[in-house]
Amino acid sequence: MSLRARLEKARQAQHEQQGNGGQAKAGQPVAAGAAAARSGQGQVPLYMPAQTQDRVLRVLDSARLGGRTAAVQPEPSPPVPREDPYAALKEKIHERLVKEIDKELLRKTDSPADRQKLASEVEAVASRVLDEEPLPLMRSERAQVISEVLDDVLGFGPITPLLEDDSVTEIMVNGPDKVYVERDGRIERARVSFRSADHVMHIIERIVSPLGRRIDEASPMVDARLPDGSRVNAIIPPVSLVGPCITIRKFAREPFTIDDLVRFGTLTREMAQFLEACVKARLNIVVSGGTGSGKTTTLNVLSSFIPHDERIVTIEDAAELQLRQEHVVTLEARPPNLEGKGAITIRDLVRNALRMRPDRIVVGEVRSGEALDMLQAMNTGHDGSLTTGHANSPRDMLARLETMVLMAGMDLPLRAIREQISSAVDLIVHQARLRDGSRKVTHLTEVQGMEGDVITMQDIYVFEQTGVDEQGRVIGRFKATGIRPKFLERFEAMGIPVPQGMFADFL
Ligand SMILES: Nc1ncnc2c1ncn2[C@@H]1O[C@H](COP(=O)(O)OP(=O)(O)OP(=O)(O)O)[C@@H](O)[C@H]1O
Ligand SMILES: [Mg+2]
Repeated sequence: MSLRARLEKARQAQHEQQGNGGQAKAGQPVAAGAAAARSGQGQVPLYMPAQTQDRVLRVLDSARLGGRTAAVQPEPSPPVPREDPYAALKEKIHERLVKEIDKELLRKTDSPADRQKLASEVEAVASRVLDEEPLPLMRSERAQVISEVLDDVLGFGPITPLLEDDSVTEIMVNGPDKVYVERDGRIERARVSFRSADHVMHIIERIVSPLGRRIDEASPMVDARLPDGSRVNAIIPPVSLVGPCITIRKFAREPFTIDDLVRFGTLTREMAQFLEACVKARLNIVVSGGTGSGKTTTLNVLSSFIPHDERIVTIEDAAELQLRQEHVVTLEARPPNLEGKGAITIRDLVRNALRMRPDRIVVGEVRSGEALDMLQAMNTGHDGSLTTGHANSPRDMLARLETMVLMAGMDLPLRAIREQISSAVDLIVHQARLRDGSRKVTHLTEVQGMEGDVITMQDIYVFEQTGVDEQGRVIGRFKATGIRPKFLERFEAMGIPVPQGMFADFL
């Protein structure tokens, strides 16, 4: 469906909603969610106002009439979303819940006892409504309707079963009726949908308001976490043109171990042994890769090789690392409060960590000026530090680090920055998500030094793709380039054994 068609559909849906919901009058934006109302701000428009939609449509038209090709590609028509046959019934139950259940009880969902009490009341009201239906439902349908209503009231609406399904690793809601999940590394459409954009908004409110965060037209993006630690991002109109969107990276209850990664074919046993030796030898390591390529997972695995007698300070935006060692201090950055004050950045935390006598600093991801502090730490006795960064190749990672250091605003000459990088970083572990959804360590690359103005690097292991099998799975092999890294001297000096033949090519 084209953007124009989508906008028209969204507008139509909005009109219908305004007509049916009775909450907002035609021509007015739909009222804001509960948090904004509670904060005394009254009505805040949440959905794209009709004027904005008109403007976008006009821009699209003028682009077409002017002979230019609008940047909108025709899309294959998406599968028809599943019509919810019980939508009206559930709506009726919700209305009755609001009327019949004590408001205070509806709000109290913190303690298990309160939840239990609320659940049984909701069940009782739902059963009464269902009993009044002229056409009784089958027992399984009844159970389904009640469980979906319970998910709405006590859980996270239609995505609750997906959150409970351990085979789902990521949930992506693109507006009310397009929900996708990632399973086994592949993205597929989920057979669930929300009743309306308002319903999605309600669930977003449910996620963010206990954390004291707000989402509305003025701040339409928010990062949050579910009680189980899963990472959530929400973004809503007017910046999202497809309705309110939610992206959830589910928290692994049992984080992957090095054996899991070897079993998945992410790397070989030899590479795993080599990485273990690198961590023990206190090399500074940067894990690089694209979004969702498994950087944090690999960082967690690398951190597990840190000896138990070392003091580790971890620094993250949202705590995802799960270290098993005892002597770990976990620090988490903090977003600004509602007045825009009180933010604690990753950079603040890196600087603070240096005063905490760490043996190792593990930073979840470097994105900005903190890279400078991290490099300085690596160069001044905090070797053995680990981090990740977003990049498309090991060489690209170095370029990104340069840019990040520039973002620190210190006005350092490029050569000085490169020298810092080349002397700080010893190894880049580059990871990729391949087309079949598998994750591979595609490069283990040593950062060697400088030649003129250029940082020199040497691949130690690479993954070579040779083809794709009938099931669409990537075939290839990991290959030792035969180059012995220069830092092997450090292994020997520290008495860390290097298995024989590790750098000879193997199949
Ligand atoms: N080696 C692996 N093999 C298969 N799946 C993996 C592997 N590593 C991670 N995953 C899965 O991929 C998803 C993304 O992993 P992870 O959070 O580590 O990626 P990331 O690169 O840190 O992502 P982001 O860029 O969003 O921070 C998770 O659901 C995780 O379970
Ligand atoms: Mg990550």
